[in-house]
Amino acid sequence: MSVETPQIDEANRVEIFDTTLRDGEQSPGISLNTQEKVEIATQLARLNVDVIEAGFPITSPGDFEAVEAIARNVSGPVICGLARTHVADIEAAWGAVKDSERPRIHTFISTSDIHIEHQLQTDRDDVKGQAKAAVAHARELCDDVEFSPMDATRADVEFTAEVCAIALAEGAGVINIPDTVGYTTPEEYTAYLGRLYSLVPELSSVRLSVHCHDDLGLAVANSFAGVLAGARQVECAINGIGERAGNCSLEEIVMLLRTRRADHGLDTMLETTELARTSRMVSRFTGYAVQPNKAIVGRNAFAHESGIHQDGVLKERTTYEIMDARDVGLDSNSIVLGKHSGRHALKDALQELGFRVEGNALNQAFKAFKELADKKKQVTALDLEAIVSDEMRESEGRYELAWFEVAAGSRREPVAKVGVTTPAGAEAVGESGGDGPIDAVFGAIQAAVETECELNRFEVSAVTEGGDALGEVTVMLRAHGRLASGQGVSTDIIEASGRAYVRALSNALDGAAVREAESVAADALGSPVPPGP
Ligand code: KIV
Ligand code: ZN
Repeated sequence: MSVETPQIDEANRVEIFDTTLRDGEQSPGISLNTQEKVEIATQLARLNVDVIEAGFPITSPGDFEAVEAIARNVSGPVICGLARTHVADIEAAWGAVKDSERPRIHTFISTSDIHIEHQLQTDRDDVKGQAKAAVAHARELCDDVEFSPMDATRADVEFTAEVCAIALAEGAGVINIPDTVGYTTPEEYTAYLGRLYSLVPELSSVRLSVHCHDDLGLAVANSFAGVLAGARQVECAINGIGERAGNCSLEEIVMLLRTRRADHGLDTMLETTELARTSRMVSRFTGYAVQPNKAIVGRNAFAHESGIHQDGVLKERTTYEIMDARDVGLDSNSIVLGKHSGRHALKDALQELGFRVEGNALNQAFKAFKELADKKKQVTALDLEAIVSDEMRESEGRYELAWFEVAAGSRREPVAKVGVTTPAGAEAVGESGGDGPIDAVFGAIQAAVETECELNRFEVSAVTEGGDALGEVTVMLRAHGRLASGQGVSTDIIEASGRAYVRALSNALDGAAVREAESVAADALGSPVPPGP
């Protein structure tokens, strides 16, 4: 079912700037590859977000490549790249987004004295100069430039206003006021933005944006306050992922605006029926599970446990529901395919689910689907999403679990033997005991790859209900000093665990190799590669 997106006039339209792939990706252990990022960006376009902040291109060749791939392949939203005020950052951001139909450069520098003194180790005049030069240079390259005074909510509002006025004079079209450390409150933020408007009257002729972190659990409330104070862009991330406690949750702010539209007259243009699917995709690819009681997209967000509530909902849904689950896309567990469905039916079903799967990828997906359909009578949309995402994680030049054997029981010590295909295509075999069968498989993988890993997180969940459900495993581990995650899907939980472990290990080793190459390059250039803001 598709719920019609209401029309809204320009003055009351709030743009959604999605930063899942930039600020969201800064959450520890997330290791998205380019293909996964493009897939998420494609889904964000389907959700109809206005802007996708696709990454921070100067930070690594991998980040640059992913932003460039998104700029080239995803149409609809503005595609934005983040840059410090340094010339190299701005040029890297431009290099990565320039092929987009609608490119944007987002540049930032802190205006709080805490950051200026301790982190930038400079003074206010230098910050003004850097902001001016950066926006001017970005504008020479790109028509659409956004400027953020970082840590604005802990900064002197008069000084922040001066810096914003400079950015505006140089041609910035969007001014974003970040609550970088999640410190402000709705009343304080409202007052801060009101003061900025009075100090910088030109602000009224551009788009004001809000970017709130959730350290005190106020990111959505603060963003909403910002919108009521005049902001018409909200920076947010799917499932609220992001630095530390995360960003404003996209699904929450969007449904808050939609549900209470009659009271404030504001809305977004989002296709909200895509929210649940986007949330599942991001959770699956990042390994960040959604808590069951999470607003809007949590498993229990529309479940009624108490008898009185169930009784009320059965009589009239609105007695205990302020939103319709179908409006956020939570009705997608329809049965789509069975054992006798062919390749064509699979392709159509996948297309309907938003996956463009062709050629060899379709063959692989079909093989996985047939295996699943042999074990499971009914293959649902949720199963298809899970197996296709799993197939997408396989790529050449990485470690892969080829096979495994485990012997375990309550009267014997578990032992496991595994075969791992190496990036060069050889097979490495390893054996190990362990505390249980899964621990033994993990030990055997470490032996095969000859790498010691520290297991950081291990989570198992079921894709659907029922005894024959697919199991989905997320592993987060540290290897060679790098934290990385991997996921695996199978009806056999040991197999799903082994695959997740090998993928996490592969991601950690890839990341460690990239970091080594970067530090060699940085040594040669004499300029450190920046960590995320
Ligand atoms: O939190 C922050 O200040 C940021 C900026 C780069 C906008 O992420
Ligand atoms: Zn941020």
